[in-house]
Amino acid sequence: MSKISETSTLTQATCPTEAVIRVERYAATSRILHWIVAVLVLAIWPLGFFIKFTKKEVTLDFYMVHESLGFLVLWIMLVRVGNKLLVRAPQPEGPAIERLVASVVHGLLYLFLIIMPVSGFLATNAHGFPLLWFGLVPIWSPVGKAPDIAWTLSAIHAWSAWILLTLFALHIGGVLFHHVIRRDNTLYRML
Ligand code: HEM
Ligand code: HEM
Repeated sequence: MSKISETSTLTQATCPTEAVIRVERYAATSRILHWIVAVLVLAIWPLGFFIKFTKKEVTLDFYMVHESLGFLVLWIMLVRVGNKLLVRAPQPEGPAIERLVASVVHGLLYLFLIIMPVSGFLATNAHGFPLLWFGLVPIWSPVGKAPDIAWTLSAIHAWSAWILLTLFALHIGGVLFHHVIRRDNTLYRML
């Protein structure tokens, strides 16, 4: 641990810029991947939810954007898992029980960020709609049209969406708890 990061947990920084400089942050790759996935998921989730309410003329466009961005998340998450295995995360702050809860929520977020695109992709294929990625690249279907499992896969996708939303709420709750109540440097580790 560097001299700079050793001092980081002793006191809270007086301004955000100072905190970002002093705190031992996640590696640049981890931060970039975190924010790319966060932005994508915050767009993909509502897109998926509102598909059923859209007018017929735009429904297919909503499907295409939702499915293509969702499939992109799968590949980014595979890179992110590799990054997680290779790059050391900074020491978490707070008591052991809070660190345990945070790592369980983070682990489940990783898991559901993989289950979501896989279940959506397989469900779409099973319903008989192979994915044309961003309207350009045909993606090979590992299941083909399979009506007998299609609705189960759709149910897994829909239920996982709500579990992911719950995990996200817990995640934001945790970040706010650290930032507003604990007033420690947790948020700055990801900036
Ligand atoms: C991070 C990735 C993804 C997220 C967060 C996500 C999220 C969602 C959400 C929130 C819904 C609405 C569920 C409901 O109404 O209860 C949904 C529906 C759906 N998603 Fe995804 N999804 C992702 C990836 C994918 C992928 C990769 C595909 C296909 C290639 C896909 C295909 C679908 C389909 C076909 C629906 C059903 C839409 C309808 O109600 O008719 N999703 N998704
Ligand atoms: C939009 C506002 C968000 C903020 C302010 C935020 C903030 C943070 C912070 C401060 C950390 C580090 C926590 C720690 O070290 O204990 C973190 C980690 C993490 N966040 Fe977020 N986050 C946001 C959105 C999201 C979203 C949308 C997701 C996914 C659905 C997500 C998934 C994760 C994961 C999986 C980690 C663990 C990092 C790792 O080990 O790679 N975050 N986030």
